[in-house]
Amino acid sequence: MSKLIIAPSILAADFANLEREVKMLNESEADWIHVDIMDGEFVPNISFGIPVTEAIKRHAKKPLDVHLMIVHPERYVEAFHKAGAEIISVHIEACNHLHRNIQQIKALGCKAGVAINPHTSVAALENTIADIDLICMMSVNPGFGGQKFIEGTYQKVKQLKELIRKTGSKALIEIDGGVNLTNAKPLKEAGADALVAGNFVFSASDPKSVISQLKSV
Ligand code: DX5
Ligand code: ZN
Repeated sequence: MSKLIIAPSILAADFANLEREVKMLNESEADWIHVDIMDGEFVPNISFGIPVTEAIKRHAKKPLDVHLMIVHPERYVEAFHKAGAEIISVHIEACNHLHRNIQQIKALGCKAGVAINPHTSVAALENTIADIDLICMMSVNPGFGGQKFIEGTYQKVKQLKELIRKTGSKALIEIDGGVNLTNAKPLKEAGADALVAGNFVFSASDPKSVISQLKSV
């Protein structure tokens, strides 16, 4: 089995020391930097937006994996591309025209991701899976870091893996929310390709070592 992609979520970082935190990730075994954008509308919390993403990009030596938890993502996709996003994920629950939104992201030269909430069934991806580069499967209800992992996720990962196999899609499966060293291995075994980890990484006394441990499960 190939190694997991590890994407620490900058949402859990010390915002007063963003440069230091990004440099720590540069030196770590992290593959991507996960950037959580919340609008106070799609989710009941506000995080940060385009200027902060640009600031992260100025120091980042790893691709930015931008997770848009916002309504009308099509209005902002281009701005996040310009801010330096390599991967942009939109929520299926926020898109009336998901197919168009995926094409919009790809036309900018970004990898297109689709995020799905815990209540959204894998079957909802059936008609777009062939065009998607990444599925960001939420293992908590989006809006906050530091929440408890929802155990039903394993079953959904297996269902998604099967859909990907059946359709020949190249989509990667990313798990987002409550990831730690207890669930990382079973998630990998269920078929996950990438793990997002916020609090588990940034609240550790040695974040780089935690990243390296997640990387080698
Ligand atoms: C939740 C965000 C997650 C979150 C992960 O709304 O999308 O990316 O920051 O943080 P932890 O790992 O602390 O659950
Ligand atoms: Zn996220």
